[in-house]
Amino acid sequence: MADERFAFVVVSNRLPVDRVVAEDGSASWKQSPGGLVTALEPVMRQTEGAWVGWIGQPEIILEPFTHSGLRIVPLALSADEVEHFYEGFSNDTIWPLYHDVIVPATYHREWWDSYVAVNQRFADQAAAVADIGATVWVHDYQLQLVPRMLRLARPDLVIGFFNHIPFPAYGLYSQLPWRTQIIEGLLGADVVGLQRVSDAGNFSRAVRRLLGYTTRSPYIEVPRTDDLPARRVIARAFPISIDVEAFEELARSPAVQARADQIRAELGNPKTVMLGVDRLDYTKGIGHRLKAFSELLDEGRLNVADVTLVQVASPSRERVETYKHLRDEIELTVGRINGDFGTIGHQAVNYLHHGFPREEMAALYLASDVMLVTALRDGMNLVAKEYVAARHDEDGVLVLSEFAGAADELRSSLRINPHDIDGLKDAIMQAVDMPRAERRKRMRALRKRVRENDVGHWSRSFLRALSDASGGIDRLGAD
Ligand code: G6P
Repeated sequence: MADERFAFVVVSNRLPVDRVVAEDGSASWKQSPGGLVTALEPVMRQTEGAWVGWIGQPEIILEPFTHSGLRIVPLALSADEVEHFYEGFSNDTIWPLYHDVIVPATYHREWWDSYVAVNQRFADQAAAVADIGATVWVHDYQLQLVPRMLRLARPDLVIGFFNHIPFPAYGLYSQLPWRTQIIEGLLGADVVGLQRVSDAGNFSRAVRRLLGYTTRSPYIEVPRTDDLPARRVIARAFPISIDVEAFEELARSPAVQARADQIRAELGNPKTVMLGVDRLDYTKGIGHRLKAFSELLDEGRLNVADVTLVQVASPSRERVETYKHLRDEIELTVGRINGDFGTIGHQAVNYLHHGFPREEMAALYLASDVMLVTALRDGMNLVAKEYVAARHDEDGVLVLSEFAGAADELRSSLRINPHDIDGLKDAIMQAVDMPRAERRKRMRALRKRVRENDVGHWSRSFLRALSDASGGIDRLGAD
């Protein structure tokens, strides 16, 4: 390993593989279902790249290994780092702050110290495996200090950063005691990619307010400092997507179509199946969705004999206090709705607290008439795009929060403000009652949009911007 060097290195908090431990204690690896690995796989293979990241469990030290052709470089986190860096600063400081403080952000100096230390380790590891002049692509809010740390260690590298979550307005961002260090950390990259045009605007504004640098979208002029020469950084939107073709193919498979029919039958063949699919996270507006649904049942605008809501809530960050509260709150609400409106044989909400394989998700999408995405704030929301990609039958209605990044592209959805419960209820009714011709027209327009920007397009345009920014040497063959 000592002298293994790569021309392309991806750095993310989580690795693209999950460690599965069998009953006999033996461990194996499974590619995680996330879209990032699908997006980067072609360029990883073409360049024989490496992926640096954490395996998701504390105290496990592993040597680099190869998994289905991908070189994996695992980075260990101690139990203390999981608590302070991951659960603390990443998920109880940055996550709520960047999602508009839906729950309060917690500021602890020891969490920050751990964030700095762990970011430095990620940077050191990336620097150790990157070849001379290599391209390093750093991902997401857990690693915002890595670009500058890497540049200081390895000025020869081409460095990209992509933020998968929103970047908040300055009025909120300015709460952060370490707001300047984070901005400086990010400006170590040649290209800072964000999900929405508004996120890029918020980032540039923070740079102007905190550092006084000149910005002329998409450029940020970073003057010379004691440790680094003057540079021009690009900060702009690159909306992420999914592997549209693969998802559609999955949804077209006879097994998935049969499973979709079976799901409807198991639900008692109601007139309308509504669906919510989320990580169990307070940013997703699951409570708002349940409130609107229960009021519609209460007012008799919906009837439990005709309609059922399937809510998939996959477990997430379960040791973080706000997530524990959320789970209790949602499960209490679901219990109340089912108690108030359910009948023998008709459950109002079918609540599932587990993750499902992609095949089952595709079947659920096909089986539902109305998809509810009611996020209070969301970087993109790939579930909305998956729903559209799955609907090759050009049916189904997408109700989509304007606070999800996907709303910028998916304009033919029924766009809602989840805080406006009456507006949300009206949109749900509009979706339930929508004539087939209008459903088809809207779904066609959505599908066209999703096909135009799939995840391959996303990664190619980011890498092209990175190659342009670094003097146009197209080392990775981005077209
Ligand atoms: C979001 C973040 C990712 C993160 C994922 C799952 O999509 O943008 O960086 O990996 O949530 O969260 P977890 O804390 O389980 O990694």
